[in-house]
Amino acid sequence: MDPVRLDVGDRVIVVERGENLRAALLHAGCCPHNDGASVVNCRGLGTCGTCAVEIVGAVSPPTRLEEARLRFPPHEGGPGRLRLACQVTALGDLQITKRAGFWGQGHERCWGVDPQDRRGS
Ligand code: FES
Repeated sequence: MDPVRLDVGDRVIVVERGENLRAALLHAGCCPHNDGASVVNCRGLGTCGTCAVEIVGAVSPPTRLEEARLRFPPHEGGPGRLRLACQVTALGDLQITKRAGFWGQGHERCWGVDPQDRRGS
């Protein structure tokens, strides 16, 4: 096993390098979807956009599908601040933050690493 650490703020989840981020989070009981989106989502097809999270660390490059979805409202501008957890492979230790809003497009932090804490890392 080649482990990587996913820091989700209140704990660290250890998974195998190369795991799909959405699957790893769900398996650990850390839902990448907010409120109603935890029930109504595309189940990892990359089309609903509700699994958007902020990530610091080494992950796979955006897929064409992810690029397209993140250019569609309420997301805009393509991959940048947000990535779709269902389209991301964890390649190294990560710090992950989930923001408010049905699609995670807001600014208030729901869970995850506080940006203040990132400055020291
Ligand atoms: S679960 Fe729908 S885009 Fe990721």
